[in-house]
Amino acid sequence: MHTFYGNPSIFVFLKIKTNMPNTISGFSKLSKSEKIEWLLNTYFTDKNSARTLVQQYWNSDDKLQKLHDEFIENTITNYYLPLGVAPNFLINETTYAIPMAIEESSVVAAASKAAKFWLDRGGFKAEVLSTEKIGQVHFIFKGDFNKLEEFFNLIKPKLISDTASMTKSMERRGGGILDIELRNKSEDLPNYYQLHATFETLDAMGANFINTCLEQFATTFKNEALQFEGFNDEERHITVVMSILSNYVPQCLVRAEVSCPIEDLKSKDILNPEEFAQKFKQAVTIAEIEPYRAVTHNKGIMNGIDAVVLATGNDFRAVEAGVHAYAAKDGSYSSLTHCSIDDGIFKFWIEIPLALGTVGGLTNLHPLVKFSLEMLQKPTAKDLMKIVAVAGLAQNFGAVKSLTTTGIQEGHMKMHLMNILNQFEATENEKVMLVEHFKTNVVTHSAVVEAIKNIRP
Ligand code: MEV
Repeated sequence: MHTFYGNPSIFVFLKIKTNMPNTISGFSKLSKSEKIEWLLNTYFTDKNSARTLVQQYWNSDDKLQKLHDEFIENTITNYYLPLGVAPNFLINETTYAIPMAIEESSVVAAASKAAKFWLDRGGFKAEVLSTEKIGQVHFIFKGDFNKLEEFFNLIKPKLISDTASMTKSMERRGGGILDIELRNKSEDLPNYYQLHATFETLDAMGANFINTCLEQFATTFKNEALQFEGFNDEERHITVVMSILSNYVPQCLVRAEVSCPIEDLKSKDILNPEEFAQKFKQAVTIAEIEPYRAVTHNKGIMNGIDAVVLATGNDFRAVEAGVHAYAAKDGSYSSLTHCSIDDGIFKFWIEIPLALGTVGGLTNLHPLVKFSLEMLQKPTAKDLMKIVAVAGLAQNFGAVKSLTTTGIQEGHMKMHLMNILNQFEATENEKVMLVEHFKTNVVTHSAVVEAIKNIRP
């Protein structure tokens, strides 16, 4: 049914293929080219073009390619995202050029524009409010909670001392386990309890450190319970369901802010600053009270946040999950940014949880992550929290400013113009002509198509 090139081992492999069409077992054991051949033969019509494409994205430096291959399992090629830079960010008296990895055309431009706008108005102020991370051992205990509590209090020092080899180096630097609490969740789910632990992981995001400690807590807890004389037979057998960090970190918080007298908002695109400030504040209030708007408003914030998180080798899924949970912390999904106008002062700020690292993980491995961190002047995790929060605030300022003045499409489509031109394989000459043309004409997909037709013979 499938023809394979060359390697006979693939043929052997075919025989152990499962009966379901287009499935395979042992895929991860194939070499990279065997994997590609299997995919081409199974899913592609023009195999040669697909193979050429995949290979085109390989790095010519074998060592560098191998590094990327080994980040994950079953790598077949690299998936590029542009790494852009938004310069001119003044944050607490330091200026930064912020690296952003993102595919959406208008994000870097909007961030750069907002950075420049606030550079002339005192810049951004940012402050880390707390840095506590959380992890939990979820377990089932069938019995008397008072006895469980007594056992927990007895065993707590051992829970901590059994992790000594894991926490030694973190403690030497001033971090480690902050506390472990026993939490009774049995009203929500029968017999369900937690060891709820808090950690300080300094410049590391801390996922591995936390999970290793939690798994040790779980082992100690289970083993010691077996020997606790106060328990009866059923109580002694605690079932650990899982031990894992939480990506909800409401006590790992950063706040960033911009402010200026309303009249200072006056600029090329803000001719009436009082009207602008009022409308801007209304837009933020709408996002505070209306979840449909809040989601899009916050999505715009995450355009900035994710791009910096990704460029600096951090886990954007963890950040996304934690930030959105925080946006819903009061029971209804709401805006992450807020705005006030008091005594003629316009103030706009963000408060978000961010668990970030500047050591460990990809930060020591990915050459472009190292490059990005050097561009940011080798920040500590706290510095990076401030930078990322500012990127989110700046992005939101740019979006809400456009939305409440010109509308979003004007700027967005201008930035998207190049994508449409590339889709139509415009030559460099055509690009120059059309970019000039659309400086004074509204960019829509059909207008670009029409303009291309007009200049082509
Ligand atoms: C688009 O990626 C982001 C915006 O929709 C954000 C917003 O509406 O605030 C422009």
